[in-house]
Amino acid sequence: MKNRLIGKDILRIEKLSKTEITQIWNQAAEYERLYKTDRLPLLQVMKGLVLATVFAQPSTRTRLSFESAMLRLGGQVISIADSQTSSLAKGESFLDTGRVVGGTADSAGLADVIVCRSAIPKSVDELARGSLAPVISGGQGTDQHPTQAILDGKTIIDERRRIQNLSFCFMGDLKNGRTVHSLLPLISKWPNNTVYLVSPEGLRMPKEILAKYRSQVRMIETSDVRKIIQNCDVLYCTRVQKEYMTKEEQRAAEREPYFVDMNLIEYANKQRAEKDRITILHPLPRVDELRIEPEKYKPLAIFRQAANGIWTRAAELALITGRV
Ligand code: CP
Repeated sequence: MKNRLIGKDILRIEKLSKTEITQIWNQAAEYERLYKTDRLPLLQVMKGLVLATVFAQPSTRTRLSFESAMLRLGGQVISIADSQTSSLAKGESFLDTGRVVGGTADSAGLADVIVCRSAIPKSVDELARGSLAPVISGGQGTDQHPTQAILDGKTIIDERRRIQNLSFCFMGDLKNGRTVHSLLPLISKWPNNTVYLVSPEGLRMPKEILAKYRSQVRMIETSDVRKIIQNCDVLYCTRVQKEYMTKEEQRAAEREPYFVDMNLIEYANKQRAEKDRITILHPLPRVDELRIEPEKYKPLAIFRQAANGIWTRAAELALITGRV
C-alpha cells in the first residue's frame, strides 16, 4: 500500500483518513509480530534519524513509548521531559521552539520528527507551524490526544475483532478528557457504532463535539450507568482531569464521585457468555475510578492497551518519516 503519511503532522484524528489509520494499525501489527519473534532489532528502519520529545506536561506512557519505539527501531532520541528545564520556561514561544527543533527551509533542525505535549490550547499547532520536520501531538490541552485514539482503536480490534457495530460506554470526565475527544471522531469513521456518554452533570461532553459527530455515530447521554451498561461491548473509563479545573469545579466533581468495580461489571455481564464479556479500557493513569485488577478480570485490557502504544507509535514514526 502506498504510504500517504510521509511528512504529515498528526495533530487531530479528523485530519487522518480511515485508510491512513488502518495503515498505522497494519504496520503496528507487523512491528508487534516482529518483536514477539525477536526480529524487530534487525530492522533498524529509523537508523540515522533523531526523534525530539518536547513535553511541557507530565507523561509516563506517551513520552516513554515514543522514545522506546524510536530506540527499538534503531533511531535516536533527544528530549525535553520537563518544560521547566527548557527555554519555554524563559518565555520562548512554541513557534520558535518548532523552528529550532524541527528546522526551517533555510536552517537545519535538531531532529527529524517531533512529539510535543502541552496543556496550552493551540501550542502544539504553533510548534508544528514553525517546524519543517513533521510533528505528532502527544496531547494538546483538553482538545485531542490523537495517538492515544489510534492505540485505543488497535486495542478495540485486538479485543473485539472489529471496530464497527459496537456499543461503547464512555464514562468519567467527558468535558476535559482529550482521550475521549479523540476516540469519538475515530470510531465515528466506522459504521453502526453507538456511544453511551456517562458523566457527572458538570463533566458532560461539550455540546460542540456532540454536534460535530451526531450525524456519524449514535450518541446517548445519561448519568445512570446501570441503565445502559448491559447494552455495551466496551467500557472506556477516564479519570477526573483535575489539572484543568478550578478548586470550585474540583469540589463539584467530588460531590458526584463515580467508579467502576466488579459489582458493576458482574451486573454488565449478567446475560452474557464468557467469551462476550464487556471489555474495559482506560487510557491511564487511573486514580480511584477503576477498581479492578487484570488478574481478577481478563477483559480488563488496560495494560495490553498501554503496550499497543509502542507498536502504533513505532508505526507512526516510521510512516511519517518515510521509512516504510
Ligand atoms: N495515556 C497517557 O497519555 O498517559 P501519559 O499521560 O502517562 O502519557
